[in-house]
Amino acid sequence: MLTREEAWELLASKGQERHMLHHALETEAVMRGLARRLEQDEDVWGLTGLLHDLDFHETKDIPDEHALRAATWLADALPGEALQAIRAHNGERNGIMPAAQFDYALRCAETVTGLVSAAALVRPTKLDGLGAKSLKKKMKDKAFAAAVNREIIRECERVGVSLDDFLNDAVASIAEIADQVDLK
Ligand SMILES: [Fe+2]
Repeated sequence: MLTREEAWELLASKGQERHMLHHALETEAVMRGLARRLEQDEDVWGLTGLLHDLDFHETKDIPDEHALRAATWLADALPGEALQAIRAHNGERNGIMPAAQFDYALRCAETVTGLVSAAALVRPTKLDGLGAKSLKKKMKDKAFAAAVNREIIRECERVGVSLDDFLNDAVASIAEIADQVDLK
């Protein structure tokens, strides 16, 4: 498996926009938190989160290809289960549907980042004091961060983590890297 430093260099080499790099770092943080809670391999889950959208600069206009290319590029860099999770995070478009706990973990982790960052950005104290209660209220407000798929966030239940725990963990995990993603 590649190292964290190699993974970051690989991602940085693709010239993605700043908001995509933030999304990658936030997804990594949430995956690391989930791995700790579930006693999974934190580095495997973290690097999978960091690299899951590696092909985005190439596939943003061909969504059926999104994640398939990344998994091909990463074939020698990540374990097979990680490649499968990467493919399945875009299963609705590429036909590789989620089945394993790891697959669902990546899907809910990469999706919750949109909710947490949008919620933090409209608060003067950003992530400070943000928790499951207010995030669940935002989830019910269909106009708020409308592109964020609430159903995929709820897939945390399939990972074995309650929605409350998942949302609170996601905020805590992203708070650890807040300075890197402009949420300080
Ligand atoms: Fe993503």
